[in-house]
Amino acid sequence: MEACTECPGALVRLPVCDSTNTYAKAHAARLAPFGAVYTTSQTAGRGRLGRAWVNAAGQALYYSVLLAGPMAQPETLPQLASLVTARALARRYGAAPQIKWPNDLLLGGKKITGILCESTETPAGRVWIAGIGINLAQPQDYFDAAGLPHGTSLALAGLAVDLAADPAALAAEMSAGFARARADFAARGFAPLRADYKAACVNLGRRVEFAGPDGPRAGTAVDVDADGRLVVETDGGAVQVFTGEVSVSGIYGAL
Ligand code: BTN
Repeated sequence: MEACTECPGALVRLPVCDSTNTYAKAHAARLAPFGAVYTTSQTAGRGRLGRAWVNAAGQALYYSVLLAGPMAQPETLPQLASLVTARALARRYGAAPQIKWPNDLLLGGKKITGILCESTETPAGRVWIAGIGINLAQPQDYFDAAGLPHGTSLALAGLAVDLAADPAALAAEMSAGFARARADFAARGFAPLRADYKAACVNLGRRVEFAGPDGPRAGTAVDVDADGRLVVETDGGAVQVFTGEVSVSGIYGAL
């Protein structure tokens, strides 16, 4: 286990693992109250909605952080994770990714990061895990072969990626970011993040579509409220969206 210079939490590096989220759950007692694990190769990576997360061995960073203890708004962990990741990419690369609500990070309108948040009960209490996959240096061929037309990597976006140094440095940067944010997040939830999150949120001012209880709904995204919900102005008034897929006009091929 490596020590993170800026934070008290553990930072475990694995040459390969099944899924860093699965590892964090299995080793929750060791990582709690705050710790992280990372690798550059996952054999059973997991995405949202039960999907698999394709492995790009050696060309991506797979990182999971575990947070334990009382949490004011754990349902907004995806928003925290996306903001911490965006800040880490800004610090290391000077990048300014946009956030597609709730948590995809985009460069040039394409996805560079996916986030899967999970929670589990342990003998020491409930823990929350944010798993983050960052596309570092996959070439275009990789996305073509994987059938991921809306994916890209930092290298493809024109950033100088050093695959020897960046996974460890970025993982440490991420842990430092979570360490800085975690006390405030645990106590106050999304509110302290809201202004920065909104400044990066690509949905705002755009036409969006989402699943309503009676079928698809559409409108203009106008706000992200204090509870992290996307506020959409529809013909029938304002609607707060908290779960499900939201498509954004002009992003990922949506009209
Ligand atoms: C998505 O579907 O967009 C979320 C993808 C999340 C992938 C990351 S990679 C690190 C962590 N380990 C996993 O198995 N999944 C998450």
